Amino acid sequence: MNAPDSAEASKPLIERHIQSGAICCDSAWEDAYKRFESPEEEIQKFIKRLKFMKLEDRPRDMRIVELFCGRGGGLVALQRLGFTRMEGVDLSETLLLQNRTEAKLHLADCRNLPFGDSTIDAVIIHGGLHHLPQLPNDLELVLSEIHRVLNEDGTFHAVEPWLTPFLRFVHAVVEVPWVRKVYDKGDALAVMIEHERETYEQWLSQPIIIRERFDKYFIASMNRIAWGKFQFSGRKIKPCG
Ligand SMILES: C[S@@+](CC[C@H](N)C(=O)[O-])C[C@H]1O[C@@H](n2cnc3c(N)ncnc32)[C@H](O)[C@@H]1O
Repeated sequence: MNAPDSAEASKPLIERHIQSGAICCDSAWEDAYKRFESPEEEIQKFIKRLKFMKLEDRPRDMRIVELFCGRGGGLVALQRLGFTRMEGVDLSETLLLQNRTEAKLHLADCRNLPFGDSTIDAVIIHGGLHHLPQLPNDLELVLSEIHRVLNEDGTFHAVEPWLTPFLRFVHAVVEVPWVRKVYDKGDALAVMIEHERETYEQWLSQPIIIRERFDKYFIASMNRIAWGKFQFSGRKIKPCG
């Protein structure tokens, strides 16, 4: 296990763009998430993903934003890869306060990003879009905001759950009571699904609409569906003329 970087231990500074306390975290979901994977396991998972997305090939001083950053495991992963200008956006001040990186943090709604037009080099989402309450309208808002804030050569990277045969199998297995008794991680996953069921099922049930919206704003360089995940990397579509 890596020792935390010294910068990971400093207190976060939060720029508030909305009323604090507008939303907080579901404590049952949070408790289950802690049983599902440790912070270090999550960081290692994010590092692997970021390398797969070829973020490692990019300048370390580019302006990079993680949306739906929560307590900041994804920002720690970016910092460990050497990035120096990271920012995170989340609606929950409680989760933002748990961040331990040098990233600039924004208490803001991802449907209304607190950045100027064409000012960001890369935007990353590790599982946040499936928490949006109203599809496809909220997705349209978030994607159009990402398109607006990315600069000409900016890139967008997202990983979200996807209803593959593997995910159906996982759902079926973690619903079995004895499996939940003997397999704590399976029980944790079942609790998380129960607590986000409405938005999770809404997300999983609209694959065509979701991909249409992605294609409306971005040209994909990676559009991969495997092992219950949709993994997307792309550049913004430039306006004609
Ligand atoms: C699955 S959690 C992400 C967890 C994160 N990877 C972590 O390590 O904490 C989804 C996050 O999205 C945030 N969220 C939900 N809707 C949002 C919105 N409209 N704008 C910004 N953040 C939002 C929640 O507060 C939550 O932190």
